[in-house]
Amino acid sequence: MNKALTIVDLQKMKQDKQPITMLTAYDYPLAVMLDEAGIDIILVGDSLGNVVLGYDTTVPVTMDQMTHHVQAVTRGAKRALVVADMPFLSYHLSKEETLRNAGRLLQQGGAKAVKIEGGQAVLKTVQALTAAGIPVTGHLGLTPQSVHQMGGYRVQAKTASAAEQLLTDARCLQEAGAFALVLECIPAALAKQVTAALHIPAIGIGAGLDCDGQVLVTHDLLGLSTGFTPKFVKRYANLQQDIGQALASYRDEVQQKKFPAPEHSF
Ligand code: KIV
Repeated sequence: MNKALTIVDLQKMKQDKQPITMLTAYDYPLAVMLDEAGIDIILVGDSLGNVVLGYDTTVPVTMDQMTHHVQAVTRGAKRALVVADMPFLSYHLSKEETLRNAGRLLQQGGAKAVKIEGGQAVLKTVQALTAAGIPVTGHLGLTPQSVHQMGGYRVQAKTASAAEQLLTDARCLQEAGAFALVLECIPAALAKQVTAALHIPAIGIGAGLDCDGQVLVTHDLLGLSTGFTPKFVKRYANLQQDIGQALASYRDEVQQKKFPAPEHSF
């Protein structure tokens, strides 16, 4: 088994210009597959809400749900660094509650780090978490927990002033102690500028090729998600179709009394 990756390894990958791979997982079997495929970071994203739990947004996801899924993922990940999303409002109410919630994702869940969304508004939170020994990934650009405030899922930081603000936020998050940043759905030229300005890794999703690494929702790249697919997703498989065909074959064979065959019987 390869040695478990740490946040120090990720810093070195940035220095060595070795691209960092990051994907989401919400359960044990997928975590095992990502780990065995050599994916560096497994994110237990609160995309759990849309992808697995059937919600329209990430907003309804709770700490109990996140903890349950983080536990399943960490049982399957031996090498990959597991990062757990802190769900909506779990890091806004008070410093004590924030620390308790983040601590739970590490202590009960087994995650190695947490991810929180936002810029200036979460700097003190990043400081408090890192002071408590909890590594933090920041998340700038399209921040899905603020979907109702942003008025939908759209490309962010398109004006010069918004781009300047995002660059400032990225620098401040690094200063506050974040060990990495996710940059979601921003112009590629801005992501390149932010990546170059930071000494911590910047991992892009819909942020072009010049970030230190890339992240996608695994169900999107496998063709397993239902509904809208963002432009930044590349489908590497069409598992929904494959699974549909397999299920129809099973149904037909049972109805036609072809399954179980002698080799499946005792
Ligand atoms: O929740 C999630 O899956 C995420 C990724 C899209 C970065 O935050």
